[in-house]
Amino acid sequence: MMNNSRLMFIIGSNILMLVATVGGRGQPGQAKPACNFPAIYNFGDSNSDTGGISAVFLPIPTPYGNNFFKRPSGRDCDGRLIIDFIAEHLGLPYLSAYLNSIGSNYRHGANFATGGSTIRRQNETIFEAGISPFSLDVQTTMHFDQFRWRTHDLFNQANSSMEREKLPMADEFSRALYTFDIGQNDLSAGFRKLSNEQLKTALPDIVNQLAGSVTHLYQQGARTFWIHNTGPIGCLPVATLYIRNPSPGYLDKFGCISSQNEMAMEFNNQLKARVDKLRIELPEASLVYVDIYAAKYGLISNTNKHGFTDPKKICCGRHDGDLNIWCGNKAMVNGSEVFGGSCADPSTYVSWDGVHYSQAANQWVANLILNGSYSDPPMPVTHACYKHL
Ligand SMILES: *[C@@H]1O[C@H](CO)[C@@H](O)[C@H](O)[C@H]1NC(C)=O
Ligand SMILES: *[C@@H]1O[C@H](CO)[C@@H](O)[C@H](O)[C@H]1NC(C)=O
Ligand SMILES: *[C@@H]1O[C@H](CO)[C@@H](O)[C@H](O)[C@H]1NC(C)=O
Ligand SMILES: *[C@@H]1O[C@H](CO)[C@@H](O)[C@H](O)[C@H]1NC(C)=O
Repeated sequence: MMNNSRLMFIIGSNILMLVATVGGRGQPGQAKPACNFPAIYNFGDSNSDTGGISAVFLPIPTPYGNNFFKRPSGRDCDGRLIIDFIAEHLGLPYLSAYLNSIGSNYRHGANFATGGSTIRRQNETIFEAGISPFSLDVQTTMHFDQFRWRTHDLFNQANSSMEREKLPMADEFSRALYTFDIGQNDLSAGFRKLSNEQLKTALPDIVNQLAGSVTHLYQQGARTFWIHNTGPIGCLPVATLYIRNPSPGYLDKFGCISSQNEMAMEFNNQLKARVDKLRIELPEASLVYVDIYAAKYGLISNTNKHGFTDPKKICCGRHDGDLNIWCGNKAMVNGSEVFGGSCADPSTYVSWDGVHYSQAANQWVANLILNGSYSDPPMPVTHACYKHL
């Protein structure tokens, strides 16, 4: 049961080339050196969780992780997530989850994201299946703050460089990159519990709470923010799996639920406007808004061209008619045990498990966004510390 419900946790030379390309698009001669971020601090949900919720509750089972780590790695994916590709691109190690007490290394940052996290706190009186108790305010005002002070204390108490090598240096917090990818679960919870009108009415508060978390981190010294908007939630195969005879217009021409995508776009428009306002409120901050929606929808709407199969197909798990065995789960079918295993070639699938993107899709999206072509302002992630090119 837990397994089923945890599936629902949504919710050098390259750099020179980038500088040259970017400089060429703006005014020539204004190329700036890369920011050389010493660390990444990430906040979010399963789209960027690298082991948090898996360490706290039940480990994410095989075949998750098999296509890169060769074992479950605490990620809701067959391999790497967009945040992993960001870390690789910046020459930094993959982020250890703050909540993972085993084998973690925080020298170059920490990951506060957990699968199922929402921006707003959900119902406090019941533990809802699939919803993480670590909402964004917990990740920022409780976990991050505690991480900062306790690692600082520990660093000062440490007597050798060996004791210090897994800890961040105090002066590096202000030069780090702060990344966000969250909001998808506020929408999915809204679709379950609220009417469309109620959810729309709630959007300004949801967006404002995200802005509150950014402001909190700024007050703690953070200066560079890389903020992903939310993807086309109505295109997730899980959203349409149980829909048999959709009324005309309910699905768009790529099989996505139009009303859900419209809600995601409205969230994104409000987030973009709120980030603009944050630039005034937080004058020393550099804030980059990244259009993940456009990148993902661009892939889903043109899978053939990009070497992927039907975006509605799910690589891992068994889904035939009424039979739904989720990735990594087992079920008795006609007296024999059936395992929800991986497809033969995950690199051709957009969706890994019906809720989460495959490593191949994550890599495709990361390639698109890293150079700043989906960013406002159009900053490559290597240069996100600058407000202008
Ligand atoms: C939380 O869940 C409980 C139990 O289902 C319900 O009675 C209560 O109304 C819910 N509260 C909110 C704020 O949704
Ligand atoms: C560092 O050395 C001091 C004095 O020997 C000792 O009290 C302290 O516990 C040591 N710190 C750590 C983290 O081992
Ligand atoms: C189970 O058996 C029934 C009756 O023989 C058959 O119609 C059905 O397709 C079988 N289910 C699977 C998943 O093989
Ligand atoms: C960014 O990368 C994508 C994917 O490789 C490419 O199509 C695009 O032209 C690049 N944009 C810039 C501004 O370099």
